Amino acid sequence: MKINSKDYHEDGNKPLLSIDGIPEMLASEAKPFMYLMMQYRCAIMEVETKLKVLDAEFAQKYNRNPFESIKTRLKKPISIYEKMKRKGYPVTVENIETHLADVAGIRVICSFPDDIYHLADLLTNQDDITLLERKDYIRNPKPNGYRSLHLILQVPIFLSDVKKNMKVEVQFRTIAMDFWASLEHKLKYKKNVEDAEGLVAQLKQCADAIEDLDYQMQGIRDKIDEAKE
Ligand code: GTP
Ligand code: MG
Repeated sequence: MKINSKDYHEDGNKPLLSIDGIPEMLASEAKPFMYLMMQYRCAIMEVETKLKVLDAEFAQKYNRNPFESIKTRLKKPISIYEKMKRKGYPVTVENIETHLADVAGIRVICSFPDDIYHLADLLTNQDDITLLERKDYIRNPKPNGYRSLHLILQVPIFLSDVKKNMKVEVQFRTIAMDFWASLEHKLKYKKNVEDAEGLVAQLKQCADAIEDLDYQMQGIRDKIDEAKE
C-alpha cells in the first residue's frame, strides 16, 4: 500500500502566533482553543484513516490505488483569526466552530477524474459521515480555471466522555489539477509580478489543457483495462 501523506499549508510562511501577536481570543481562551484544535486534529485522523482503509481494500480487490497521495493541514491560528475578522464575527472558540468549515483540511490527489467521484461517494455514503456541503468545481470550474471537488463533511470523534461531530473540508483533485492550483496560488500571493494579467490568461489556457489531458488519460486507462479482461 503506497500512501504518501504530507501536510499542506496555504498560509505559507505566516508565523504561528508569537506571544506579542496573540489576539484577544487566545489571551482569554487559550486552553479551550487548544482543546478545539486537538479535536480538529482527531477529525483529520478519522477521515484520513477512512481513506486509507478504502485504499487498502482497493489494492487487494482491484490491484490499484484510488488515490496517489493525501495531504492534511490544520489552519494556523493567525489564519483562523484573520478569516473570522474578515467574516465579521467576534473571535471566540464557539464562533470558530460554528462559522468556519475549513479549520481541518484534507486534500486527496487522484490520478483520474472518475476516481474522485467514486471515492467521494464511498466516503459520503459511510453511515457516520454527514455531507454538509458539496461544491463541484470540476463540472463547474471557477472562471480562473480552478478545478477540484470540495466536500464539507461532519465526522464524529470519540473523546473520553463525549462523542462530538467535527467539520472537515475535503478537496479532491487530480495530480494535474493540484499542479495547476499550486502554481496559481503562488501567483495570487505574489505582488509586483510582471504582466500578471497575461499570466492569468495563460493559466486559464493551462487549466483547459489539463482538463483535456485528464480525460484523455482516463480514456486510455479505460482501454487498457478493457483489454485485460
Ligand atoms: P473560503 O473558504 O473563505 O475561501 O470561501 P469558500 O468556502 O467559498 O471557498 P471555496 O470552497 O471556493 O474554496 C476553498 C478552498 O479551495 C481555498 O481555501 C483553496 O484551498 C481552494 N481554492 C478555491 N479557489 C481556488 C483558486 O482559485 N485557486 C486555488 N489555487 N485554490 C482555490
Ligand atoms: Mg471554505
